[in-house]
Amino acid sequence: MSDAGPKGRTGRRDEAAFAITPPQIVGPFYPIRERPDLATNLARPMGSAAEAQGQLIYVRGRVLTPSGKPVPHALIEIWQANAAGKYRHPSDMNPAPVDPNFKGFARLTADASGCYSFRTIKPGRYPTAEGEIRPPHIHLTVEGRFDRLVTQLYFAGEAENLADRWLNAAPHPDRLIVNLQEPPSHLEKHAMVADFDIILASG
Ligand SMILES: [Fe+2]
Repeated sequence: MSDAGPKGRTGRRDEAAFAITPPQIVGPFYPIRERPDLATNLARPMGSAAEAQGQLIYVRGRVLTPSGKPVPHALIEIWQANAAGKYRHPSDMNPAPVDPNFKGFARLTADASGCYSFRTIKPGRYPTAEGEIRPPHIHLTVEGRFDRLVTQLYFAGEAENLADRWLNAAPHPDRLIVNLQEPPSHLEKHAMVADFDIILASG
């Protein structure tokens, strides 16, 4: 009798329990002028007079290996457009306004169990230099002990998801798309929550 079942001695069946998060391009707006703050609250950066404009969201999840082991203390960098689709970046030619209360970049560390969360606003869609419209998305880099993944997170139900060539170039675009859900009672009533586990190939 084989022991190749889900709980077999080798555990091999379990190795594909979590599918690797597909990579995405860095894009032109990786922060270059300022070192991103060590922070988890992008919706109200240190020194801001008010909250950033836009739909408040919490993104939360775990950084894991394909076998489901936590990747402790992974370093996560985040960069994104504001609610109007504008990056605070010298290369962004979009005439949409800058939000004085939104920087759109930060870095943070997952905890010992691989858990992370950050508070931000849902980014707006924006035109590219080639005349395409990119769907709302958040850029992330995730650095574990062995891997450095560059990827992007997208939101379910956005019309531009269907045509976006970067999202659709991913081997499994669905792994990069999150659903916004109602918040748990300890968060603001007007917030929405997205769960996004990040699976690194080696950890
Ligand atoms: Fe982008």
